[in-house]
Amino acid sequence: MLYNPIMSLSLGWLSAVLAGFFTVHVLQKLCFPYFWRDLFFLLKVIKYGAKLEVFKLTSRVVTVLDRFIQQAQRIPDKPFLLYEGSTYTYRDIEERSNKIANVFLERGNLKKGDSVALLMSNEPDFVCVWFGLTKLGCSVAFLNTNIKSRSLLHCFNCCGAKTLIVGADLVECLKDISASLQEDSIQIWALVSQSDHTDIHPLLDHIAAASIQPVPAALRAVTVLKTPTLYIFTSGTTGLPKAAVITHLQTLKGAGGFWAFGGTEEDVVYIPLPLYHSAASLIGIGGTIEMGATCVLKKKFSASQFWNDCRKYNVTIFQYIGELCRYLCNQPKGVQDKVHKVRMGVGNGLRQDIWCDFQNRFGEIRMCEIYGSTEGNLCFMNHIGKIGAVGRSNFFYKVLFKYDLVQYDMVKDEPVKDERGFCQRVKKGETGLLLSKVGATSPFFGYAGSKQLTEKKLMRNVFVKGDAYFNTGDLMAENQEDFICFKDRVGDTFRWKGENVATTEVTETLGLVDFIQEANVYGVEIPGNEGRAGMAAIIVRPGHSFDSKKLFDHVLRDLPAYARPLFIRLQEFMDMTSTFKQQKFHLVQSGFNPATISEPLYFLDYTQKCYIPLTDSIYQSILAGERKL
Ligand SMILES: *[C@@H]1O[C@H](CO)[C@@H](O)[C@H](O)[C@H]1NC(C)=O
Repeated sequence: MLYNPIMSLSLGWLSAVLAGFFTVHVLQKLCFPYFWRDLFFLLKVIKYGAKLEVFKLTSRVVTVLDRFIQQAQRIPDKPFLLYEGSTYTYRDIEERSNKIANVFLERGNLKKGDSVALLMSNEPDFVCVWFGLTKLGCSVAFLNTNIKSRSLLHCFNCCGAKTLIVGADLVECLKDISASLQEDSIQIWALVSQSDHTDIHPLLDHIAAASIQPVPAALRAVTVLKTPTLYIFTSGTTGLPKAAVITHLQTLKGAGGFWAFGGTEEDVVYIPLPLYHSAASLIGIGGTIEMGATCVLKKKFSASQFWNDCRKYNVTIFQYIGELCRYLCNQPKGVQDKVHKVRMGVGNGLRQDIWCDFQNRFGEIRMCEIYGSTEGNLCFMNHIGKIGAVGRSNFFYKVLFKYDLVQYDMVKDEPVKDERGFCQRVKKGETGLLLSKVGATSPFFGYAGSKQLTEKKLMRNVFVKGDAYFNTGDLMAENQEDFICFKDRVGDTFRWKGENVATTEVTETLGLVDFIQEANVYGVEIPGNEGRAGMAAIIVRPGHSFDSKKLFDHVLRDLPAYARPLFIRLQEFMDMTSTFKQQKFHLVQSGFNPATISEPLYFLDYTQKCYIPLTDSIYQSILAGERKL
């Protein structure tokens, strides 16, 4: 037998390598179970980021709209939007948005850089008007269709819009404020053929008569990624809604979401959320365009239609907020619950209990949580689908994104500072306030028309003199496996029915009622509901009495449904913190249970059209989910 040293050497080498691989593999499985998935995800993020860097270097930005126009040339006949039984192809939307651009080019008195306000419900024309205006180089301000007259007027001032475009179904909302709009010489266009009001110009006939030829491409050309393109209103921590400045950078980042989670052009995306929020517009519509996919747009979310729609349209990805999944779980069980093609949900605010229920009931749908505020400069994505986590971090992620969790004093309602006035990082696993460093790679664009509001969202001198951080207002914890979990929200906003409620805006509105001397607004948890319900502790002005009917009429008229305080607590004194802020912590903790609170409590009752005394039986019926909230 021949002895072959080379052979034995190479075999030895091979087995050593194999053993090595095996060990590494086992170690990796044991210690870094998410290694490969993290790596692939990170590579995608880096690839997308590199594309944006190229835009910066070449001063030639391929915007989401440019991408749409490319897709309309590449796949003109592919359905882009499905809405109430009609199909709109890429070409349809391209041509109609050209028509709208032509109408405003001729008559709109608009120039590149102007902003235009859009007050529309979910419908294909929302997208056509948005794209049409962007084709003219205008920036578009999406108005929340729930907000009431006073806030609506304020929104115009923020973004400096001199033109308003309103959907046919919302023309009525303008009747209270059309005189004020007229005074500010704001031009109103409505998507109707005829208008009874002389100051509201009908649009539909002009659109029908307009050319489908594109307007000059130079109008929409963008050289700087940080050019504003949208204003999206977020509920302020300080009163009225704030217009977050959305640049092309953010729209491009949003549009990469589905793709990063593994979406392809085969996907059918279900969008039941309002388009005036960034989730539906930037991630939903933008993401559909990026992939060249199809989306099903809903005017409004309907729990009873949801799965039928998914089956009918072969939906594969849906967008959600936590409430939505809960409503779906609350629907009567059916034999077809697992019969559908949905493979992924993308959204925010899904709590652990509902997450488990949802997957048990409707099958192993991968739920991808995205954390990030409209205006924030940080985003987390739970690409693993780990139940209960809003995001995933790792070594590389921390190099790319500078964020920190700092200790927070819930009672004083402020971050804990050391003797030199600096914040303290929490230990791994502990809950802290999430701050995100503001810098060249993570800019914060702030709010339109208010340096002051922008400054209020920033914290300076956090760890060293001169640094600046975006204060997310969210308490988070990062566990040993690097998953990031949402814990609570601090400060002056809370979420209810998928909308942010600014306590100060509600406080100001309550302050207009003659018998209220002082109001302290906060949110309380109601078991079986996402977010927090509004509650107001109020002090009645001396010589006046609490008028439950008057208060009801006032909040109904001046506050959108989600912002109305469901509970009122009458107080003699108002507690203050040591820094003279209204004390909310103890009020939040004590909730709304009449058995444990000696002060008078009231409950907003839509059937009796007033605030009614909150008795123990009403309290029990609320917990049992038997009351309209
Ligand atoms: C959904 O998929 C089925 C089977 O793949 C197909 O027959 C049907 O036409 C599809 N429906 C739609 C609306 O695309």
